[in-house]
Amino acid sequence: MRCTPFSFLPLALLFLLLLALPVEMVKNSDFKTCNESRFCRLHREFATNSTKTPPKVPRYSLNPATIDFTDSKFVANILDSQTNQELSLSLSFLNHGIVRFRIQETDQNSGRYQGPGNYVLKDGENGLQKIDSKNFKIEVNTSPEGTKTHLISFYQNSLGEQMQLAITESPWTISLLQNNKTTIEVNTRGLFNFEHINKKQEVSSSQEQTSESSESGSTVAQKPSFEEKFKNWVDSVPKGPQSFGIDINFPGSSNLYGIPEHASPLSLKVTRDDKEGYSEPYRLYNLDVFEYLNDSPMALYGSVPFLISHSLENTVGLFWMNPSETWVDVSKTQSPALLNLFNKYVSGSTSGNKMSSHWISESGVLDAFLIPGPTSKDVFLQYSSLVGTTSLPREFSLGYHQCRWNYLDQADVLEVNDKFESNKIPYDVIWLDIEHTDGKRYYTWDNKKFPDPVAMQEKLAKHGRKLVNVVDPHIKVDQDFRVSKEASEKGYFIKRNNGEDYKGWCWPGDSNWIDYFNPEASKWISDQYSFENYNNTTPALFVWNDMNEPAVFNGPEITMEKDIVHFGGIEHRDVHNLYGMLVQKATAEGLINREPVRKRPFVLSRSYFAGTQRYGPVWTGDNTADWEHLKTSVSMVLSNCLAGINFNGADVGGFFGNPNPELLTRWYQLGIWYPFFRAHSHIDTKRREPWLLGEPYMTYIRDAIQTRYRLLPYWYTLFYENTLTGMPIVRPMWVEFPKQSGLFDMYEQFMVGPALMVTPVLSEGEAVTQRIYFRSQESYHDLFSDYQLPGPETHDTMTMLGSQSVFVVGGHIIPTKERPRRSSQLMKHDPYTLTIYTSMHGSSKGSLYIDDGETLDYEKGAFIYREFNYTGATLTSKDGAPSSVDSPAKKKFIESIKHIRVERIVVRGMMNSFKRAIINENGKERSVEVTCTKEKRGVCTIRDPAVLITEDWSIRLSFD
Ligand code: GLC
Repeated sequence: MRCTPFSFLPLALLFLLLLALPVEMVKNSDFKTCNESRFCRLHREFATNSTKTPPKVPRYSLNPATIDFTDSKFVANILDSQTNQELSLSLSFLNHGIVRFRIQETDQNSGRYQGPGNYVLKDGENGLQKIDSKNFKIEVNTSPEGTKTHLISFYQNSLGEQMQLAITESPWTISLLQNNKTTIEVNTRGLFNFEHINKKQEVSSSQEQTSESSESGSTVAQKPSFEEKFKNWVDSVPKGPQSFGIDINFPGSSNLYGIPEHASPLSLKVTRDDKEGYSEPYRLYNLDVFEYLNDSPMALYGSVPFLISHSLENTVGLFWMNPSETWVDVSKTQSPALLNLFNKYVSGSTSGNKMSSHWISESGVLDAFLIPGPTSKDVFLQYSSLVGTTSLPREFSLGYHQCRWNYLDQADVLEVNDKFESNKIPYDVIWLDIEHTDGKRYYTWDNKKFPDPVAMQEKLAKHGRKLVNVVDPHIKVDQDFRVSKEASEKGYFIKRNNGEDYKGWCWPGDSNWIDYFNPEASKWISDQYSFENYNNTTPALFVWNDMNEPAVFNGPEITMEKDIVHFGGIEHRDVHNLYGMLVQKATAEGLINREPVRKRPFVLSRSYFAGTQRYGPVWTGDNTADWEHLKTSVSMVLSNCLAGINFNGADVGGFFGNPNPELLTRWYQLGIWYPFFRAHSHIDTKRREPWLLGEPYMTYIRDAIQTRYRLLPYWYTLFYENTLTGMPIVRPMWVEFPKQSGLFDMYEQFMVGPALMVTPVLSEGEAVTQRIYFRSQESYHDLFSDYQLPGPETHDTMTMLGSQSVFVVGGHIIPTKERPRRSSQLMKHDPYTLTIYTSMHGSSKGSLYIDDGETLDYEKGAFIYREFNYTGATLTSKDGAPSSVDSPAKKKFIESIKHIRVERIVVRGMMNSFKRAIINENGKERSVEVTCTKEKRGVCTIRDPAVLITEDWSIRLSFD
């Protein structure tokens, strides 16, 4: 059955209505404010009241009779003195000194969702490694007032400092101490507040009163309501309210970061304060937000509940493992009254300013991990030990992606491809949006527009190029559409409570959604990516999962109703923020398995959660072609990287609107530094492929893209190193310079790996004056010229439209491939250039990772990782692989790249003029000529030393 025009009528009317309203109102009124969300309002009011009038006797305390410590686990019941109900608290001590705490009803069969650990944690719940408690030391101290503190000494941090956990009984609090200083505190502001899950008929009168007194808003019923209204939607809340909130505080902290996704500055603003920051909390609830606002804590497409605190003293973090709707208030506080007592008995707690967060979630278990640091490197390693690092991408996917809604047809695609060729602009991937399908039936083609998709893919593949097709998760209701019919027959769609398939509107009109929580359904949809099922696809085709929040045009807040029940009785409310990740995971699995040799997948997702980094890249959704969005994209990309979602980027050029050539040029110059580099635009915008801009813009854009391609070996190495360390690939300045407080708020300048410092132009002007901060006592080398200057210094520079400010921090060696090619695959066997950017002391370090770029053979050791060292005028290359496996796969791989050599070595910042280089490879010596520029601190070049990239060797510079 085809869609009739009538099925679109309500949608069209809605659209006209939206157009008639002022733009700002449309965006805001579609989505809830904290006040319009019952549980958020309740916890915020509770926070206001308990801060204004702190209770004389704490409401929640540990029941001493229930305290037990066995097998690396501290357990106790929390007694609610108002309802007389008890909750169970359990604390476990994990590898790296991570402390996990979980709170829920004492009866674990209360009906509460037990958490997403098996989806989110990289090795599932059973993969978490505990610290052996044999060496723990436990003391119990009692204050003169009678408050007991359990002090558990359990680990030594990376600085060799003793880590302790202090648990007070009344009020109950948890503090993490390192070297006798409190670094993270839990509930020291007394904001813990927990709604017991109750069946409707079991609500006790005492609970009614509690809720009643805290609820004063207008849209919620006076009695605790099991129903919640928003506009015309009624959420039946079948299990009743079950929310909770708690404060997590960071003594001495000056800045908080993370909890993407928000279009807001990198360093989080305080909330509850219109003047200094926002009046709303940061919201984590995956939503499709049309024309999202800049500088707002509103929820967007993805959510990662990972918060980082950084100060001159330390870096620590908090991972809140909960995929239900969550709000986070951020504030700066003074030492709280409730804590004074405690401070007297546990020394070291910093007085004065601290950053605080107040976490509020709608359902599930309160399940949080204290990430102890104490350095930023530790934090990234610790967090990634839980949720995993970014999977090694297909090598091509680090190249440039050309997208548009839509490339019209096959001829259009091939013409664009040809234009890239004739204009000598490298690119790797061209994308097809929803219009390529037969009436928005994904997994199909519009045969009129694309008469021979295989021939088209083969033509692209000739030069190593790929095609990406959008495959959204909504499936058109149509009995003549195989995917729809089969999924419906097999019962794989999400169901309404009455057993019918859940139906909503999206691009195709009436649609159903696969229930990814059903393992069979998820496997079945993965199989739809096989070459047999997905007609006319070849190994050159990859996938884009969009609208997977999921976006439901006629649903509350443009998404799915919370009381929908998934497979296994899981309410959508409990797992909303996880849905998008499961869509991407299933697609990735389908792509891995579609060929006889398992290959790495490439799946772009719009929605994401903690752990998404294991399945593929994300992008920052539908931004706008203006300077503000250009600027915000930097913070958004950095925040994602901090939260482990490294492979991410913003639509280059801006999705909505038409960028002028200057903005577009600047966006390309910034975009080459996004880990995921894709241009994209809305169907109503003017075409903007680089050649359409004319000169000089096309040349500027080509130059920028070529810079990306030259540096691909460096990028790929950074992705590999992330798998070892969890270090963000693109990182804020403070990560590299943690002791420079002037950099803590900075996003206008950032680092790509440890070596490249990028200061993009983010404002209008053919020539823009930029302030660049060279903060360390180090040499800084311009990436594009021989210019070099010594830090520390603050430098004002004029950046013309054709250029950009990128400096290499002295002390690094960067591998590049300098021969301009049309795609990354065509560069595969090209020789390398190594550029040594000498430090003040004359030495430098670098690395290079290479594998086949497409299979999973690297897991069997089929890769090389070289470490380069330059010191005392000698450069060495040696094997730096963390472990060496001698497998047939490795041998085969090494054999395949054995011929690749280093064709040039450049040494920048030389004080001396050398004449020759003595090369020592395989015990044999030979010498080649060196040419040096005449100036002081010049450049020496060793042309074609012809050393092999796979081998150990050394090269000594000599004066004669
Ligand atoms: C959504 C996506 C956008 C895409 C469009 C049509 O708005 O965010 O990137 O082009 O849908 O599929």
